[in-house]
Amino acid sequence: MIKKYLNNVILDDCIAVMKHIPDESIDITFADPPFNLNKKYNGYKDKKEDNIYLDWCNQWLNEMVRITKPTGAIFIHNIPKWLTYYAALLNRIAIFKHWIAWDAPTSPMGKSLQPSHYGILYYVKNPKENKFYEIRYPHKRCRKCGYLLKDYGGKKDGLHPFGPLVSDTWTDIHRIKHNKYRDEHPCQLPVHLLERIVLMSTDENDIVLDPFVGTGTSVLAAKRLGRRFIGIDIDEKYVDITKNKLNYENSDSKIDNSWISFYLNEPVTIRDVDWENLSNHFSIPENNRDIDFVKVSLYFGNIKKSCKNHNRQQEDLLLITK
Ligand SMILES: C[S@@+](CC[C@H](N)C(=O)[O-])C[C@H]1O[C@@H](n2cnc3c(N)ncnc32)[C@H](O)[C@@H]1O
Repeated sequence: MIKKYLNNVILDDCIAVMKHIPDESIDITFADPPFNLNKKYNGYKDKKEDNIYLDWCNQWLNEMVRITKPTGAIFIHNIPKWLTYYAALLNRIAIFKHWIAWDAPTSPMGKSLQPSHYGILYYVKNPKENKFYEIRYPHKRCRKCGYLLKDYGGKKDGLHPFGPLVSDTWTDIHRIKHNKYRDEHPCQLPVHLLERIVLMSTDENDIVLDPFVGTGTSVLAAKRLGRRFIGIDIDEKYVDITKNKLNYENSDSKIDNSWISFYLNEPVTIRDVDWENLSNHFSIPENNRDIDFVKVSLYFGNIKKSCKNHNRQQEDLLLITK
């Protein structure tokens, strides 16, 4: 059954499609649904009565949990207001793992604190079986002097050369700000956000399913990282843009045998278990304390060339899809 969906982007209603997918057959499900904030989509009307919106959400959330494998995970991105309702349902049918706070300013909502994070709910089916890989991101440094921004006090000898383990607060990934990097979609997510989720929770060839694929962020991330994917969207224009982008994407975001996430030619997420292999490809200060002011960097060679190809393909693609 799911063969025809695999590595494909389906133009349809996501609940109707997921009903055809067998129980526990997908490695991870990731959803970034419309937020019911009256955003201007191409076709979809993003304004429903709250109770109608939430009834609809419960239907696709139930399907996502049903089709996810016991080794897998369920991720849902939304504003905190809706995530509190999602959590009430999910707590009954899956196991809570994290509320990831993605630090990104959002629109003010009247008499309220300035919202400055989106949440990504992270649930699993079976906490004894679920796949989870610790991941690292590069140390944050002063742009001018290169020194570490965080004061590690007396613990500098133990610094990891690449960077710290990723916590449940993600402050290093920014929303797409420049129009030249955006598709014609009001809510496109950055690919390296999804690459982080994929690296943390799946292995090569695993299946990533996104019921609200938009212009394809999740499926692009999956393809780049050698995973299989199923994307669904109800809007033909978004499905076409996604398919077009996928044609230009290769499964080559790796160094040696280690899949990693790049942004602007720099590695931005790696798996902790891969560091031993990856470290051979980085120039690392001999004295660990020098990491305080010296950033590890990739040796120049084929690796950097392949990153450059990535960026060039993306630029070509933007010209095509605009
Ligand atoms: C927040 S956007 C997803 C954006 C996506 N994460 C990206 O980075 O491009 C939500 C998407 O859900 C789609 N959508 C709305 N209702 C749907 C339904 N019933 N089934 C499938 N897709 C739907 C909309 O067309 C829209 O593209």
